[in-house]
Amino acid sequence: MPTTQENLETAFAGESKAAMTYLAYAKQAEKEGYTKIAAMFRAIAEAEMIHAQGHLSSMGKVKSTVENTPPCSNRRKKRATSRA
Ligand SMILES: [Fe+2]
Repeated sequence: MPTTQENLETAFAGESKAAMTYLAYAKQAEKEGYTKIAAMFRAIAEAEMIHAQGHLSSMGKVKSTVENTPPCSNRRKKRATSRA
């Protein structure tokens, strides 16, 4: 039986995949001139992103900006988070 954490990971993956799929559909609709349908797909994608972000937050994976910055390089991290 999956744990709550595993269920959240699965749900996050599903919502993220749905969001990206709807963004791709929006891009295609826009390319074909269906601007209203593209807008509808973008709205659905936004809803899916909100769902995904909720799951991410529930897993405690949204921290401070410094903590969220990948450990690529300390100098880049310092520059990116500098407030000057
Ligand atoms: Fe959703």
